[in-house]
Amino acid sequence: MIELKGVSFSYASSAGPRRQVFEGLNLLVRQGDYAALMGPNGSGKSTLGKLVKGLLSPSSGEVRIGGRPLNPGEVSPRVGYIFSNPENQIVSSIVEEDVAFGLGNRGMDPALMSARVEESLRMVGMAEYRTHSPHLLSGGQQQKVVIAGILAMECEALVLDEPTSMVDLRDRREILDLFQRLHEEKGITLLHITHSFEEALQAQDLIYLKNGRVSFYGPPEEFLTSTPSAGPSNLQIPPIYQIIQGLRERGHPIPPGVHSYAELKSFLLEREKAPRS
Ligand SMILES: Nc1ncnc2c1ncn2[C@@H]1O[C@H](COP(=O)(O)OP(=O)(O)OP(=O)(O)O)[C@@H](O)[C@H]1O
Ligand SMILES: [Mg+2]
Repeated sequence: MIELKGVSFSYASSAGPRRQVFEGLNLLVRQGDYAALMGPNGSGKSTLGKLVKGLLSPSSGEVRIGGRPLNPGEVSPRVGYIFSNPENQIVSSIVEEDVAFGLGNRGMDPALMSARVEESLRMVGMAEYRTHSPHLLSGGQQQKVVIAGILAMECEALVLDEPTSMVDLRDRREILDLFQRLHEEKGITLLHITHSFEEALQAQDLIYLKNGRVSFYGPPEEFLTSTPSAGPSNLQIPPIYQIIQGLRERGHPIPPGVHSYAELKSFLLEREKAPRS
């Protein structure tokens, strides 16, 4: 569980007054929830993520992870943070060493460590690259290695800060599927910062930040139909979403789990096969 209670935060500015990002912000992300965090550029998404990890500390208020408050200046070992650019988070020239890096710092038993590394690499589908150099992998594969390293640390929550913005389309799908598995199989709380509404649709909840405030918090599907002022006018709505909405408006019972062309196609084909009543 991620909890912010009355959190205020501002950045120092060399010229002029401090830049106030949050003032008395309250937010609760339930244990095991998959929450997408959206909002315009500069609305404070990354700042919020860094407050959750403890990379930044609030000037007032409290951040709690799993019910325990973070002390000022404390970086939470229970939260993993994944940045857009995996290269900035890769520290070793061999995949398995990179995944083991955080564990080595904890002085763990070597046999246990090796099992943990193996399991984490398997989880992200990168076991066969164990002995490869991370620097020769694609951006998406590198991102998976970074995620394996964080999984090895057994974090209870992950902050994903635009994790797919630097990976190609195929790797992007695999990484998004991985988040879904981490949510379903491992019960890890996910806070997924994204500019893509299509990505947000696979989350359970969508949190929309605007001017340092939460202007929407609910199922992603309800976001577009909620208060029109909740979102920016320039939010790009994926065409598939418009098609599904259009079909629903014309009385087709498309279930809530259908988000992609493939899912829509298999739903329609199934319905075709079903005996008509
Ligand atoms: N290190 C910093 N020093 C001073 N101001 C900062 C710093 N980092 C961010 N800011 C300012 O704080 C505000 C929130 O920034 P933040 O990076 O959290 O936004 P964001 O929602 O992640 O934006 P984006 O979608 O562009 O990533 C912005 O006005 C930004 O300019
Ligand atoms: Mg950001």
